[in-house]
Amino acid sequence: MADPAEIKGVSACVFDAYGTLFDVHAAVGAVRAEIGPEADRLSQLWRQKQLEYTWLRSLMHAHLDFQQVTADGLDFALEATGLLDRADLRAKLLDLYMRLDCYPEVPETLARLKRAGFSTAILSNGAPAMLESAVANAGLADRLDAVLSIEAVGIFKPDPRTYQLACDRLGLAPEAICFLSSNAWDVAGAAHFGFQTVWINRFAHPRERLPGAPRAVIETLDELPGLVGA
Ligand code: LAC
Repeated sequence: MADPAEIKGVSACVFDAYGTLFDVHAAVGAVRAEIGPEADRLSQLWRQKQLEYTWLRSLMHAHLDFQQVTADGLDFALEATGLLDRADLRAKLLDLYMRLDCYPEVPETLARLKRAGFSTAILSNGAPAMLESAVANAGLADRLDAVLSIEAVGIFKPDPRTYQLACDRLGLAPEAICFLSSNAWDVAGAAHFGFQTVWINRFAHPRERLPGAPRAVIETLDELPGLVGA
C-alpha cells in the first residue's frame, strides 16, 4: 500500500493511456466468442508484441506510428494462434482498439483531480488519432487538460524525449509531475527521467529490475486522489 507522504509538491497528474486508463484486453474481450479458446493467448501476445516492436523500432531508428505497430503486433499474434486467415477478425479487432473501454474508476478519478486544482494529461505512445478516438469514446475530453502523443518526437517510451513533452506542454519541472502507469517499464523510464511516479499494479506483477523506482504502488486509480491530496 502507498504512503501518502511519498508524493509531495506535484501540481499535475500525467497518465499513460493503454493498460492504465484504457483496457487493452477489451478488444479481444468484445469478440471472445468468435475467437474461441485462443482468445486470451491472442490478447496477451498482441500486447506483448506491440510493446516489443515499440522498443525494437526505437533502437533500430525505424519508427512507425503506434497504429501500424499495433497492426503488426496483431498479425504476429494471429499467426501464432493459427488465426491468420481471419481477415474479418483482424478488421474488427483493429476497429475495437480505436475505442477501448476505460477502467471504471477513471472518469471520477480525473474529475476529482481537476476539482482539486490538479492539471491532468495523457502521455502515450498512441498515435494522435487513436488517442483522440479513445478519449472521445470514453467521454474523458473535458477531464483532461492535454492529450500528448509521442508522435511529436517520433520515438517511443521510455526515451527521455517522450517524457519531456509533458514538462514542455504543462510548463512544469519533472518533479512537479506525478506520472502514472500500469506498465512497470514505463514507470521505470518516467522515474529515471525525474517524474514522481506511481505504479498501478493492476495485474499483480513483480517489480521490474530497472533503474527508476515508483514512489508508490497502488492497485487501482481510486487510491490516487488520497496519495496526492486531492
Ligand atoms: C502507452 C503504452 C505504453 O499508452 O501503453 O504509451
